[in-house]
Amino acid sequence: MDGKAQDSSRGLPRRAVPPAMGLLLSMALMNALLYLCLDWFFIAPPHSTPGSTHCPHGHFRMGQMKNCSPWLSCEELRTEVRQLKRVGEGAVKRVFLSEWKERKVALSRLSRLEMKEDFLHGLEMLKGLQSKHVVTLLGFCEDDNTILTEYHPLGSLSSLEATLNLSKYQNVNTWQHRLQLAMDYVSIINYLHHSPLGTRVMCDSNDLPKTLSQYLLTSNFSLVVNDLDALPLVNHSSGTLVKCGHRELHGDFVAPEQLWPYGEDTPFDDDLMPSYDEKIDIWKIPDVSSFLLGHVEGSDMVRFHLFDIHKACKSQTPAERPTAQDILDTYKKVLNLLRDTMVSQTREML
Ligand SMILES: Nc1ncnc2c1ncn2[C@@H]1O[C@H](COP(=O)(O)OP(=O)(O)O)[C@@H](O)[C@H]1O
Ligand SMILES: *[C@@H]1O[C@H](CO)[C@@H](O)[C@H](O)[C@H]1NC(C)=O
Ligand SMILES: *[C@@H]1O[C@H](CO)[C@@H](O)[C@H](O)[C@H]1NC(C)=O
Ligand SMILES: *[C@@H]1O[C@H](CO)[C@@H](O)[C@H](O)[C@H]1NC(C)=O
Ligand SMILES: [Mg+2]
Repeated sequence: MDGKAQDSSRGLPRRAVPPAMGLLLSMALMNALLYLCLDWFFIAPPHSTPGSTHCPHGHFRMGQMKNCSPWLSCEELRTEVRQLKRVGEGAVKRVFLSEWKERKVALSRLSRLEMKEDFLHGLEMLKGLQSKHVVTLLGFCEDDNTILTEYHPLGSLSSLEATLNLSKYQNVNTWQHRLQLAMDYVSIINYLHHSPLGTRVMCDSNDLPKTLSQYLLTSNFSLVVNDLDALPLVNHSSGTLVKCGHRELHGDFVAPEQLWPYGEDTPFDDDLMPSYDEKIDIWKIPDVSSFLLGHVEGSDMVRFHLFDIHKACKSQTPAERPTAQDILDTYKKVLNLLRDTMVSQTREML
């Protein structure tokens, strides 16, 4: 992930030359430098994680760790992990910044016993879906209702705007990095739809703020999915469909097939509510991507190029919506197209 967060503020040495001459010279030098660096600026390959080969099942590696280590046991969690302060809470877990062997880690504790089933489902999903798309599992203890994961200091996507607003992150608050985040997001959905545990639907996302709270921003400005407590299985060959919860859903963030179809005069009845498939995730992609693109210079230009694919995501008929892979391909094309035009436009200016 080099080239993602570097700053380009290296100063040039000054010499004693006549002011006008010096100005001209340095302008020429700057132009030449700029010209040479354009490719590097715009076409730097994103997301190359050196040595990111994953550990065997049941093992983890994080940060600067050289070797893979087995998931921590109950005993190790109890004696080696020191809880520091609470950093988050949802319906199922209370999350604490903690310390393990001088490393920062995240300790999640079940917050209410009624939610134990969701907690255990989330743990099964974390175990089975370990990959670059999912937060790294470090250990767990079912007896104590605890899960230990890698800590990400930038927190969830809920605080993306506040994070990018900080002066030290101004250099990554660009349409390029924001489109890259949208690509990460769609890659995660694509992974869940073709996961080692089958086609999984991201159910814990009935509104935008809730959805954002399930994903973490890494220090390298990429995304991982963190909360996997509601990932039911779709199996098209056996005709298995899903429902996200047992309550009536409202609003236009959720897909139209998730709404009660029988009108206001018929009271909601979960038994009569039809089930649906992974295309509900596709319906939500334009809203999440648009949030990720934000309102910086170039955001609207990207939105304009994504208009058609996003319109297709909002098809009333689920089967007519594109796949996550289709969307990802389009995002990549748009990123390359806009990079190429920026390079040639800037070259013309010089
Ligand atoms: N590994 C982590 N690093 C940093 N913050 C985290 C981490 N895990 C969770 N959090 C914070 O805690 C919040 C709640 O976590 P989550 O797993 O979504 O709990 P719940 O299942 O109750 O919704 C997240 O939205 C995020 O702000
Ligand atoms: C970020 O990338 C560097 C290498 O570029 C890697 O060593 C580090 O583990 C990554 N950090 C995270 C949080 O992914
Ligand atoms: C970003 O910073 C500006 C100025 O410092 C402030 O007015 C604005 O409210 C901030 N936005 C967020 C989302 O924190
Ligand atoms: C889906 O269903 C088919 C037919 O019933 C079965 O063979 C297959 O194993 C199922 N796939 C998953 C991931 O459960
Ligand atoms: Mg959550």
